[in-house]
Amino acid sequence: MTSQIDTLLDETRRFPPPEQFAAQANATEATYQAAAKDREAFWATEAAQLDWIEPWHTVLEWNLPHAKWFVGGKLNVSSNCLDRHVSGGRADKAAIIWEGEPGDTRTLSYAELSQEVNRCANALRGLGVGKGDRVAIYLPMIPEAAIAMLACARIGAVHSVVFGGFSAESLRDRINDAEAVAVITADGGNRRGQVVPLKKFADKALEDTPSVRHVLVVSRIGEAADTVMQPGRDHWWHEIVDAASTEATPEPMDAEDLLFILYTSGTTGKPKGIVHTTGGYLTQVTTTSKYVFDLKDDDVFWCSADIGWVTGHSYVVYGPLANGATVVMYEGSPDWPDRDRFWALCAKHGVTVFYTAPTAIRTFMKWGPEFPDRHDLSQLRLLGTVGEPINPEAWMWYHQHIGHGRCPIVDTWWQTETGGIMITPLPGVTTTKPGSATVPFPGISAELVDTDGTPIESGGGYLTITDPWPGMLRTIYRDDDRYRETYWSRFPGRYFAGDGAKLDDDGYWWILGRVDDVLNVSGHRIGTMEVESALVDHPAVAEAAVVGKTHDIKGQAVAAFVTLKGDRDGSEDLVKELKQHVTEKIGAIARPEDIIFTADLPKTRSGKIMRRLLRDIAEGRALGDTTTLADPNVVNMLIEKHEAAEG
Ligand code: PRX
Repeated sequence: MTSQIDTLLDETRRFPPPEQFAAQANATEATYQAAAKDREAFWATEAAQLDWIEPWHTVLEWNLPHAKWFVGGKLNVSSNCLDRHVSGGRADKAAIIWEGEPGDTRTLSYAELSQEVNRCANALRGLGVGKGDRVAIYLPMIPEAAIAMLACARIGAVHSVVFGGFSAESLRDRINDAEAVAVITADGGNRRGQVVPLKKFADKALEDTPSVRHVLVVSRIGEAADTVMQPGRDHWWHEIVDAASTEATPEPMDAEDLLFILYTSGTTGKPKGIVHTTGGYLTQVTTTSKYVFDLKDDDVFWCSADIGWVTGHSYVVYGPLANGATVVMYEGSPDWPDRDRFWALCAKHGVTVFYTAPTAIRTFMKWGPEFPDRHDLSQLRLLGTVGEPINPEAWMWYHQHIGHGRCPIVDTWWQTETGGIMITPLPGVTTTKPGSATVPFPGISAELVDTDGTPIESGGGYLTITDPWPGMLRTIYRDDDRYRETYWSRFPGRYFAGDGAKLDDDGYWWILGRVDDVLNVSGHRIGTMEVESALVDHPAVAEAAVVGKTHDIKGQAVAAFVTLKGDRDGSEDLVKELKQHVTEKIGAIARPEDIIFTADLPKTRSGKIMRRLLRDIAEGRALGDTTTLADPNVVNMLIEKHEAAEG
């Protein structure tokens, strides 16, 4: 069997940037040279294009592992995304073109978006929410999601967006970790013709969140959602936001004040609150949006990510809006009511730049080209991908059937922690190779190292970043020790991204995937420990070990090995129950694909679960060294069970 990695390492195919792009490109070779010569000057020149209330006095203060960018500067992110466009000639230009799953649409011009944001900012201030307060946002993909984020930014409140697919418990834990004072949610959202009752989930979470004083509720569904409002705590958006003034003074924020916290999975059971600040983050997402997506005034940019993920923060909201672009937001999924929904939307709204995840591309590929072929996609001029390694086959399909050979593809590597794009081609500048994220963005220094941390020029190793960059995470919320330990201890002096990678002879990066206990399921991060904790929380489960297995569409899927308490037997019903239990504890994205019951887990003599063996079993691969096993029989039994489970 050819492994995905073997195919990935096809370095021979090259796609030079199309001619017409070279003339339009925002960036040129000279951009790389300038940035290489003086990294700080490059970022400072970019930052200077934002509106600052007070200028910074120092570009960078680097006290490893703590960076401060644009020290002393003051600015407001919402003013940069809205006010300067309203006063600068874009007042009537569409900022957000939104479409709901049932087909309802709403277009907000920059002037309208700005007014809505100010109303929401005033409503929040009226509820006593102010600078530095944390606000949890638990919304579907509706314009209010972007409005709420920008309103927090306007008043200096720190938002923590929680993906609408997360369970009540996940929401509760995130609210409590950040001690959020307010929650912004909706009565529900639409997903494949069903209502997702977000307010009901939020109510369950709110039973145990002592810090929350107010809940702001958008009516997306209406009476059918049967929403119960708690007097004094819950307020309808259409009552208090719509009644508020459209003028709201922006809070002058220090460049290093917190803009948001976003929770992401790590190698322990507890998600990490990734902290992003104001000036550096905005600089990086604005700059990368401009250069990587080559945004021009007439572009319509659709990044299909949900705002619950960092991609939605950086490339649905902050990056493109800071550039005055028009963004598309869509509430539903690609296969509802038909498998051509995304392409119908691209044609209808004249999308010119489209950015999505390899999982989606592999799904489209499976469905076949007849769905995009139904629509006129001639306005598309640039395609992007993010979140997982893209296999060359999917890259070629995307290039041929969506881009019709005309659109360059930018394969962008970055993370929740990096805030913005780090390794990527630039359209018009970089020759691309299918499956490679190509080269670091100007002003970013990446280095490949071996297990000892020694830099290597080519071959396989670990991806590290050697110098601070403006959009980098500043710490883990209220857990700076974990910040140091997770990112800066494996290779002292370097940021370790958790990814394995390969450098080819042209110096191109090929990201191979996570080398830690973090899975990447459909481009979403899931910690094996989180799923294990959810499983052992079930009364029947004694012990659980979770590993990733290769999946054609999702990239990876969750496989769980479970031992039961007492002499309970594993039944089909219990498999279903455990899958449901994980969905309730974390959310549907963490639901295991396979659950294999076993009397014992393979352990070393010191009691460590041998995940490598479990991965081999889950993949159906020949087993590696088993000599350190405490009880070698466990493995044979597991292999039999796994084969039986696979049918
Ligand atoms: O393993 C890498 C993978 O996604 C991880 C980051 O996940 P998250 O913080 O959820 O952010 C996803 C969207 C920015 C990385 O450690 N990853 C991201 N982009 C790529 C990628 N793997 C390969 N190629 C990419 N372009």
